[in-house]
Amino acid sequence: MTHRLGSLCDEHYPPPRSIQQSAHVKSMEEYRLLYEESISQPEKFWKKLAENLYFKDPPGSGEDFLNYNFDANAGPISIQWMRTSSTNICYNALDYNVEKGLGDKVAFYWEGNHPNDEASITYQALLEEVCKFSNVLLKLGVKKGDKVAICLPMVVELVIAMLACTRIGAIHSIVFGGFSAGSLAERITDAKCTIIITADGVWRGKKLIHLKAIVDDAIERCVKAGFPVNQCVVLKHLPRVTSAVDVGVGNDISQVGWKQDRDLWWHDIMKDASPKCPVEWINGEDPLFMLFTSGSTGKPKGVMHTLAGYMLYSWATFKYSFDYQEDDVFWCTADIGWITGHTYVTYGPLLNGSTSVLFEGVPYYPDPGRFWAVIDKYKVSKFYTSPTAIRTLMKHGEAEVRKYSRSSLKILATVGEPINPEAWHWYNHVVGEDRCPIVDTFWQTETGGHVITPLPGATVTKPGSATFPFFGVVPAILDDNGAELSGECEGFLVFKKPWPGIMRTVYGDHERFERTYFRKFPGYYCTGDGARRDKDGYIWVTGRIDDMLNVSGHLLSTAEVESALVEDPCVAEAAAVAHPHPIKGECLYCFVTPVDGIPYTDKLEKELRDKVREKIGPFAVPDYLQYAPSLPKTRSGKIMRRILRKIAQSDPDLGDTSTLADESIVVLLQKNRVATA
Ligand code: WTA
Repeated sequence: MTHRLGSLCDEHYPPPRSIQQSAHVKSMEEYRLLYEESISQPEKFWKKLAENLYFKDPPGSGEDFLNYNFDANAGPISIQWMRTSSTNICYNALDYNVEKGLGDKVAFYWEGNHPNDEASITYQALLEEVCKFSNVLLKLGVKKGDKVAICLPMVVELVIAMLACTRIGAIHSIVFGGFSAGSLAERITDAKCTIIITADGVWRGKKLIHLKAIVDDAIERCVKAGFPVNQCVVLKHLPRVTSAVDVGVGNDISQVGWKQDRDLWWHDIMKDASPKCPVEWINGEDPLFMLFTSGSTGKPKGVMHTLAGYMLYSWATFKYSFDYQEDDVFWCTADIGWITGHTYVTYGPLLNGSTSVLFEGVPYYPDPGRFWAVIDKYKVSKFYTSPTAIRTLMKHGEAEVRKYSRSSLKILATVGEPINPEAWHWYNHVVGEDRCPIVDTFWQTETGGHVITPLPGATVTKPGSATFPFFGVVPAILDDNGAELSGECEGFLVFKKPWPGIMRTVYGDHERFERTYFRKFPGYYCTGDGARRDKDGYIWVTGRIDDMLNVSGHLLSTAEVESALVEDPCVAEAAAVAHPHPIKGECLYCFVTPVDGIPYTDKLEKELRDKVREKIGPFAVPDYLQYAPSLPKTRSGKIMRRILRKIAQSDPDLGDTSTLADESIVVLLQKNRVATA
């Protein structure tokens, strides 16, 4: 990679006094002391924090507390935290809080897609529902260590299902409801789930998503592939919500396909279930859940997290990064189908005994003021969303925001992609009226929780920088040869030590885990992101440096999209590259070479877009497709995506083209470039 240090936004924003005074960490000095301890004495540091959670068997000492090998050259990669402990995350999230007197506290305010639809649930009631569903799972034959696929909308039952799994030691594998049947099937079979929990359907804005139909299709594909999915629990959701369109007959669930010997209604099996269910005490290093994330080869990876470390880390990052206070109302807008929802809708908030908003809808329905309306309605104090959402709402102007008071807001946080300074300023000034610290949290599905983030009462922020490492995290920036860079620099972002929340393996493929994250630079966990360090030591994550791209905060691999495109019999070859997009951050620009004799037409383009939608999901549909009589390749036949990226961006400086086999194709592609936004 190239090492260019462009200009960074060097404005400083100190934490507001009002936040600082009552914060858990009140100054940079305090942060540094705690941080030093977390690195030099990890056992002492984390054990103290672990006292806030319940362990049936204690966290252990010495190698039992922390044992790892981060060096691929020294043997297999292994990471173990609290390996002799036993505990249960559902017990800590619910029973323990009820025992502490939080039974009547609201765990979630549920806000539906339509503003008419709302509900709330207390810790006590949530515990009872979770116990009931745990009993249902047990009755269906689900045991400790079994894998359960969950594909549900943002409803309380999603939280109930995931906690019920963890209560009995089953491993949940949640798949985002926006995936296609093919992607869902791939994830179900890879995770080896024999049971899936879903719903009839869900409104997302004005769009009705027939979840059950997608799941039916996926199950059929699994069965065809020789993989038996023999139980499907279906939540009847649509009849209880307000339709988003006046004329819609979409809420008619009689349209749901039904397989008698396989499908079960959620309400039927819950009817007689007991609201009491004993907790299964689970070893600290036993699997907790897996969650698929895109892999640069195109095949998604089942990221595996284990119990004790993830639990402690989600508790700690929630408490410190958002400076959690007892009277907070927290709102993370992410879908639970992504890691952000796992850690900061479900686990982090519940482990801390917090009250949160669980939102089913979208930011622009019924109008682009929805976020701010919900903030006022529930008096949200800590708000966590994505730069894409912020940029989408910016487009609609300040008036939409100013219609609402937002006076309850104390902290504004972001996640998912680098935030451009313009969006940062808008978030800070227009939404937060300059009184709420902006917490730009950098992390990954693999890291379990925040790894680089400001602490709102301590850190002086700079727009666009995720600032400094969280406790226990030791970042480094490496050059192409793997040498650590010091001072102001730009290079590969890596971590030198494990923190409790780091993933433990890729499910079913430990070799892939080692190859993906630990082989490139032995001794380090490689994030796949580039980063800069500025003169004050601030870290600025610049984005992916592998063949991945980040569309609206959703990670995608170019290989995944290319393989969907070339599946079309009309396509001989295709190359996908990331292209900057004013709202989504990045989008896809694809070059397509049709099979000899097949004309490149609008019809073909439409077919290809449909193909990607069907194979991966709507969020992966390319914004731009360009006809390519052939593709620029190296002499050894590798597609030069670096050059294609420049062509897509109409950047005339192609860099080193000496390995290019045929320059004339580049000129041709440059000439026929598609106009972009
Ligand atoms: C990107 C989401 C810059 C990054 C939690 C990372 C970010 C990928 C930030 C992980 C941020 C996430 N600044 N980039 N604050 N947060 N990213 O696994 O490229 O869906 O590697 O986890 O998102 O995406 P994932």
